[in-house]
Amino acid sequence: MNTFDAIRRRKSTRAFAPRQISDEALERLIVAGGLAAVGMAGFDSLRIFAVQNPELLKEIDEEASKGFGNPQYHALYGAPTFIAIAAKPRPLPNIELTDSGCIIENMMLAAAELGIDSIYLWTGMNALNRRPDLRDKLGFPEGFTCAGTAAFGYAAKPDEKLREPVRRIQAVILR
Ligand SMILES: Cc1cc2nc3c(=O)[nH]c(=O)nc-3n(C[C@H](O)[C@H](O)[C@H](O)COP(=O)(O)O)c2cc1C
Repeated sequence: MNTFDAIRRRKSTRAFAPRQISDEALERLIVAGGLAAVGMAGFDSLRIFAVQNPELLKEIDEEASKGFGNPQYHALYGAPTFIAIAAKPRPLPNIELTDSGCIIENMMLAAAELGIDSIYLWTGMNALNRRPDLRDKLGFPEGFTCAGTAAFGYAAKPDEKLREPVRRIQAVILR
C-alpha cells in the first residue's frame, strides 16, 4: 500500500473486535511513531506507553468515559491496544501536543498499511492528566504528562474501502 492509500484507508474506528494486534505490528507502530517529526528533535522528552493489559485498559476506559452522561459510553471503544505519549515540559509551550499529533498520525498510518484500525483519543489524554495514579500505574516518569493517546485494533465491522480523495478541509491557494 502506498502512503496516499494508507492516508485514504485511515479512519476513526469506534467499535473494536477483541482480537489483539501482533507483537510485530505493535513494534512497527512504536518505530513508526518514533520516526515522526518532533520539535527540536526532543526525543528524550518523550516516551511511548503501549497498554495491552486488560485491567489497566478497563481502568483507563472507565476514567476516560466519565462526564459524558452516558453509562453505555466506552471511550476506548473496546480497543485491545491503547497508546499514550508521555512528555515532559520544554521551553516551547505546548510543543508536546503537536509532537504527539505527528507521532500518533505516523502510527495510525503505519497501522492502516497493516490493516489495523485506530482512533486518536483526546479522552484518553484527559483521563491520564486528571489521574496521576493512573500515570504512575503506566510508569510515567516524574514530571511527565500525557500529550496524546490513541487506540489500535481491528474494527468490529471491517471496512477496507479507501476514502474518496477529495478536499475535506477548505483550502486557499495563493499563486
Ligand atoms: C486530537 C484528536 C483528538 C480526538 N479525540 C477523540 C476522542 O476523544 N474520541 C473520539 O471518538 N474521537 C476522537 N478523535 C477523532 C475525530 O473525531 C476524528 O478524527 C474526526 O471526526 C474525523 O474522522 P476520521 O478520523 O474518521 O477521518 C480525535 C481526533 C483528533 C485528531
